[in-house]
Amino acid sequence: VTIHVDASNPGVKVSPNLYGIFFEDINHAADGGLYAELISNRSFEDDEKNIPTWKTSAQEGAKIQTQLINKGLLNKAQGKALQLTIAAKPAATASLINEGFWGINAVQGRTYKLSFWAKGSYKGGLKARLTNTKGDKVYAETSLNAKVGKKWTKYTAELTANANDAKAQFELVADGKGTIVLDVVSLFPPTFKNRENGLRPDLAQLLYNIHPKFVRFPGGCYVEGQESPENAFHWEKTIGPIEERPGHKNVNWRYRTSDGMGFDEYLQLAEDLNAKPLYVVNVGLWHGGMTPVDSIQPWIDECMNALEYANGPVTSKYGALRAKNGHPEPYNIEYLEIGNENNQPDPAAQSDHYYERFKKFKDAVLAKYPKMHLIGNVVAWGDDNPKWESNESVELLDEHYYRNPAWFAENFNKYDNYNRKGSEIYVGEYAVTQGFGNMGSLDAALGEAVYMMGIENNSDIVTMASYAPIFANLNNRMWAPDMIQYTSDKVFGTPSYYVQNVMANNIGTRVLKVNQENPYKYEQTQVKPAICRVGMGTWGTQVSFEDKGYSDENGKALPMTLQELPTDIHGQWKTEGSLIKQTSNEESCIRLNPGEITSNGYIYKVRAKKDAGNE
Ligand code: AHR
Repeated sequence: VTIHVDASNPGVKVSPNLYGIFFEDINHAADGGLYAELISNRSFEDDEKNIPTWKTSAQEGAKIQTQLINKGLLNKAQGKALQLTIAAKPAATASLINEGFWGINAVQGRTYKLSFWAKGSYKGGLKARLTNTKGDKVYAETSLNAKVGKKWTKYTAELTANANDAKAQFELVADGKGTIVLDVVSLFPPTFKNRENGLRPDLAQLLYNIHPKFVRFPGGCYVEGQESPENAFHWEKTIGPIEERPGHKNVNWRYRTSDGMGFDEYLQLAEDLNAKPLYVVNVGLWHGGMTPVDSIQPWIDECMNALEYANGPVTSKYGALRAKNGHPEPYNIEYLEIGNENNQPDPAAQSDHYYERFKKFKDAVLAKYPKMHLIGNVVAWGDDNPKWESNESVELLDEHYYRNPAWFAENFNKYDNYNRKGSEIYVGEYAVTQGFGNMGSLDAALGEAVYMMGIENNSDIVTMASYAPIFANLNNRMWAPDMIQYTSDKVFGTPSYYVQNVMANNIGTRVLKVNQENPYKYEQTQVKPAICRVGMGTWGTQVSFEDKGYSDENGKALPMTLQELPTDIHGQWKTEGSLIKQTSNEESCIRLNPGEITSNGYIYKVRAKKDAGNE
């Protein structure tokens, strides 16, 4: 792209809040990601019957049995505890083991803070350890002076590792006899800015390095939840000591969250990044259900209480609670988004009387916080020019775009003709998601960068923007690409991350007149012969391309990595002719005939493969 800058022709002022970040607990962005907790399923709530991520081992002469119990619990927030029945002969030991989030990152010289709650009748020695997965190398060990009695008691200890192992595990080692009922087992490494219950420093640092102007939280679909209203984000269940947080099912993204990363932690993240918090509230809708519009007062109350907790004086009910939880100063939420993607044409898509819901929230919020900047939803997914179709005024509109690089590059001028008297635009979610693999690509990042330059040129009307989503734990992701990807010990930014970083760190104050020559003409129809695997994704039909089955027109195998197109969803797939022949009896797959399938400027050629199951 060649750019001609006319410095004598000053354009619009650049919005001081233009670049921010979008945080959602997707792909283990919080538990197993930014939230530094190392014990997975720490409260034993992750499954009704099983005890995922925990196991036992016993030496000869020792026995250990586990049982989930739901009586005599630590408090009402806890739904279960783990009862251990231990019997060890002299010199024999039995262990309860946690594997962490696909390994605990033991680092030589690093000190880890352990805490857990226990009661029971156990008599004997108890040790905490970090070991390798086989359990035959001990990286850290401490004796717990734990006299386990009838009353729930909190135990704390420290472990300092003497070696590096990204897949270490945590062990509680017993050599005595009796029962221990255990709950809220927690192990923390040092955290970003040394916050208690804080964040993983390497991941938080990458966010810090962007110097974002705002932090949008907690989503995304995470705001809405799925299946039942209990699975939505309810701020009041995510504050206070970790043992008082029940956690909830993150059904949208298919795992349970401890809510250890809760309302305070989100607000503290914004504070630690010197960014403004942007809170997204639920308007009484979740994926698969809703509170009727005339009964949403409890949701409005919940929103008002959250705002009082964040902004109220310490003399107010919730301001006092914030002070009790360690933050007497208000957090000052200035931006509030009313709903997430809830203004959809299809009422089945988490949308119902959106404008009426919006108005009820708006009236309540502005009556108490007249300076609050309110953000409304417009159609997300599929509409390139979403409109606000209500006479109710709204300061900012949240547009979402998940498209291919060509779309972004070609939308450099998108905002040139937006009505300057209308609402400001917040591009709350955008990313190249289509056709470029899970790890991001330079092509994707360039498309985004061109689009962002167009945003800057129109920054009088587009005043805020955030790439989405940010994080993915590579051991269990459900959305790709994401700009920061990691395992227990490693992290990298995709090219898109570096575009965000470079653009946000080099933002000016005024736009100068720019003419550009853009040779970035994307091939609208590329032919890609491929074998596809089709399955049901989070949103619907999802097609992935097999790594070995990719071949050129003559059938010659071509090397490629697995290409998932998780966001080619929401009905964006078009089929040609009789390509999709039948829907199988199982809802989870459709059968493709050899032929062509088009999506977002690509034609995928599907060819048959013997014994290919769903392919
Ligand atoms: O960013 C991933 C998802 O995309 C968000 O949860 C949702 O708002 C959007 O549909």
